[in-house]
Amino acid sequence: MTQQPPFVTLEGVTRQWDGRGGVRDVSLAVPEGAFVSILGPSGCGKSTLLRLISGLEMPDAGRVRIGGRDVTGLPPADRGLSMVFQSYALFPHLSVRENILFGMRVRRVPRATRAHKLAEAVAMLGLEGLEGRKPAALSGGQRQRVALARAVVSGHPLCLMDEPLSNLDAKLRHSVRRDIKALQRRLGLTLVYVTHDQTEAMSLSTHVVLMRDGQVEQIATPRALYAAPVSTFAAEFIGDPPMAIVEGAALGRPGALVGLRPEHLALAPAGAAHLTGTLREVEYMGAETHLIVAHPAGRGLIVSVPGHAAWQPGQQIGLSLPEEHRVLFDAQTGRARERPAPGSRGHPAPVAPSP
Ligand SMILES: Nc1ncnc2c1ncn2[C@@H]1O[C@H](COP(=O)(O)OP(=O)(O)O)[C@@H](O)[C@H]1O
Ligand SMILES: [Mg+2]
Repeated sequence: MTQQPPFVTLEGVTRQWDGRGGVRDVSLAVPEGAFVSILGPSGCGKSTLLRLISGLEMPDAGRVRIGGRDVTGLPPADRGLSMVFQSYALFPHLSVRENILFGMRVRRVPRATRAHKLAEAVAMLGLEGLEGRKPAALSGGQRQRVALARAVVSGHPLCLMDEPLSNLDAKLRHSVRRDIKALQRRLGLTLVYVTHDQTEAMSLSTHVVLMRDGQVEQIATPRALYAAPVSTFAAEFIGDPPMAIVEGAALGRPGALVGLRPEHLALAPAGAAHLTGTLREVEYMGAETHLIVAHPAGRGLIVSVPGHAAWQPGQQIGLSLPEEHRVLFDAQTGRARERPAPGSRGHPAPVAPSP
């Protein structure tokens, strides 16, 4: 359980349009200094939730608290937070320096303090030598680092980010991702980070809020989310490859769905196999090869074998699904049957994420 008091709290927050979209009855608590990802498929309400925290959106119902203060009716500027968006939101006619300093100018921060903070942020984000350039003369990665620098100099203890890496190519995404993590740790920021990319959420966060159709599906640490998903939705959204799901009837567990993480799915000799499927695809990944197996009772059956494997599509493949690693779900509801491990929570509100 977390020792930190909650820094951001949502209590039964709803925001919809004509009874549709947005978020419904969301409760969660973000501990001080936490890195919380809001994760889910496109359209599940992630941006709406972040905008409700920022004050860009007002709730139809529920309360928003930041640092113990009820900020539900306050505009963004009075909430003491900074924001970084996918689109960078830089002023095109201002230089890097002026973009970073803009907020401090507005707030009439003394000149000497401004210069000091600018130098610090520029060094922290590796923007030395670029201070005089306009955004158009910067790469996507540099632009997003300017946006991050602006968040740094704001000095606000809470930072909200909405898919900040989406416009960057894969390589840059990884390096800016590490910049963000390092910044968060170094400044002790409380960070709420929206992403649809489960690898980003899993690798960056102390806690993940998994959303589905405007509601919270599960709040847990990355480890708990991986080991003890509350539903087949959570099980199949997390992991690459995701959890394999097999109809229980094929494994002597009628009425259940049996889930298994790919690292526990193994090849088995004919006599010892729990399931025998047909090899559909062989994907060579370099360090390993993924064998995509088709079986009428299963989905996501992907076996990872080391190195290059001389398998041919069409071959019959025996699979072992070790009992001790099976996660059981109700076939009707898709909800986990066994109580998820401590640290993993379902719906009850308000929910305090716990490590
Ligand atoms: N201003 C709005 N007016 C009407 N519908 C909206 C508005 N903003 C968001 N929505 C709807 O709410 C749902 C969630 O949107 P959003 O929070 O942007 O999702 P996400 O960020 O997870 O992709 C979507 O169905 C979207 O169409
Ligand atoms: Mg969005």
